[in-house]
Amino acid sequence: MLRLDTRFLPDFPQAFKEHGPLLLQAREALLAKRKDPQSMLGWMDLPEDTETLRRIRRYREANPWVEDFVLLGIGGSALGPKALESAFNESGVRFHYVDHVEPEPVLRLLRGLDPRKTLVNAVSKSGATAETLAALLVFLNWLRENLGEDWRRHLVLTTDPRRGALRALAEKEGLEAFSIPDNVGGRFSVLSPVGLLPLAFAGMDLEALLMGARKANELALAPLEENLPLKTALLQHLHRHLPITVFMVYSERLKYLPAWFVQLHDESLGKRDGEGNRVGTTAVPALGPQDQHAQVQLFREGPLDKLIVLVVPERATEDLLLPQVEGLEGEAGYLFGKGLFQLLKAEAEATYQALAEAGQRVYTLYLSEVSPYAVGWLLQHLMWQTAFLGELWGVNAFDQPGVELVKRLTLTFLERPGYEF
Ligand code: PA5
Repeated sequence: MLRLDTRFLPDFPQAFKEHGPLLLQAREALLAKRKDPQSMLGWMDLPEDTETLRRIRRYREANPWVEDFVLLGIGGSALGPKALESAFNESGVRFHYVDHVEPEPVLRLLRGLDPRKTLVNAVSKSGATAETLAALLVFLNWLRENLGEDWRRHLVLTTDPRRGALRALAEKEGLEAFSIPDNVGGRFSVLSPVGLLPLAFAGMDLEALLMGARKANELALAPLEENLPLKTALLQHLHRHLPITVFMVYSERLKYLPAWFVQLHDESLGKRDGEGNRVGTTAVPALGPQDQHAQVQLFREGPLDKLIVLVVPERATEDLLLPQVEGLEGEAGYLFGKGLFQLLKAEAEATYQALAEAGQRVYTLYLSEVSPYAVGWLLQHLMWQTAFLGELWGVNAFDQPGVELVKRLTLTFLERPGYEF
C-alpha cells in the first residue's frame, strides 16, 4: 500500500481542488494518446501481461544451473532490475551489472566468474547502445572461448521485437530472446522482460509486483479525490519554480531506487516545451538515514530551492530488537528493547519535521512495507506521475533527444581519423 502525507503543506488540499479541471484535462490528453501506436504508452499495459510472465517463468525453471547472472545494459535497461533485485534477491544467485565501460571492473568480474555457471543477459531496446554492445562483444567472446558450442545456452537477449543488432544476433544464432514491446521505452520498461527476467532469477514474487502495479493503474484512472498519481504530479507541478526535487528513500534494501527515479524524472521531463522554453526540475537522490549525516544539513538550512519527497516504510518485514548491554546504559540505554526499525522510523519522522520546520517544502510517500506489492505500486505510480507531468509541462515524456545526441557524438569521436585515447 502507498499513502501520501502532506501534513506540512496545509495549502495543498485547496490547491488540489482548484487544479481539478487542469489535472483531468492532463489525464484526458495523455489517455487520448493511447490510441496512437507510436505513443510509447505500452508501460500502462505491462502489469496485465501474464503471458510474458509465464514464458519467463518457464525459462527460469529450465535453467536451474545459474549461479551468476550478468546483466549487460545501461540506463533504463539496468536501473530498474538493479533497484528491485538488490531489494528482493533471496535466491542465492549472484548478480553483476555491466552498466559502464571501465575496463578494470569488467576484467575483475570476468576473472571471478565460472562461465559454466554464468548466464549473461544483454539488454538493449535499440540494440545500438555502445556501452552494451561493447560489453556484449567481451562476454560473447568469453563464453565462446570457454564453452565452445554450449555458449548459446549462456546468453539471453532482451531487445526490440524486430529491430537492432541484438535481435539480428538472436535470429542468426538461434538464441533465446525476450521482447521489449515496441511502445515501451527504456526508463518505463522495468515491468517488461527487462526487469522480469532478472527478477525471476532473483526469486522475487513477480505476481505481487505486477499486482501492486495494477493498483497504481487503478488509482491513476480513478476519480480525482482517489487519484494518487494526479495528486503527486500536482505537488511536483506546484513546486516547479523550485529547481530541485529530492527523492529520499528510508530503506537500505531500496538503496538503488533513487537512481531509478532520477533517470525517470530527469530524462523524461528535462526538455524544451512546445514554445522552446527549457523545462524540468533536477531530481537529486538521497538515502535515509545515511544522508542525514551528509545532505540533510543542506536540505534544512541551505537554500529554499527544493521540493523534498521522503519515501518511508511503515512496517518492517521483520524487526530486530536491540539487546540490553551492561556498561552501555548511559549512552545507549534509550535504545535497549527498541526495534531497529523503530529507530529508522523515528529518524525519518525527525527528518520530516526538521525539514518542514525550516520552511522546506516536503511531503512523504508511506509504503506499507518494503514488499514486492508495495514497491510495484510505487514504481508504476511514479511512472504515471511522470507521464502526467509531461502533459502539465508540455513536453514529450517519452523521448530523449539529448541522450541520443550524445550516443551519436560518441560514435563520431571513435570514428574520427587520428582520434586517440
Ligand atoms: O530511458 C531510455 O530510453 C534510455 O535511458 C535507455 O534506456 C538507455 O539509453 C539505453 O538504451 P537501450 O536500451 O536502447 O540500450
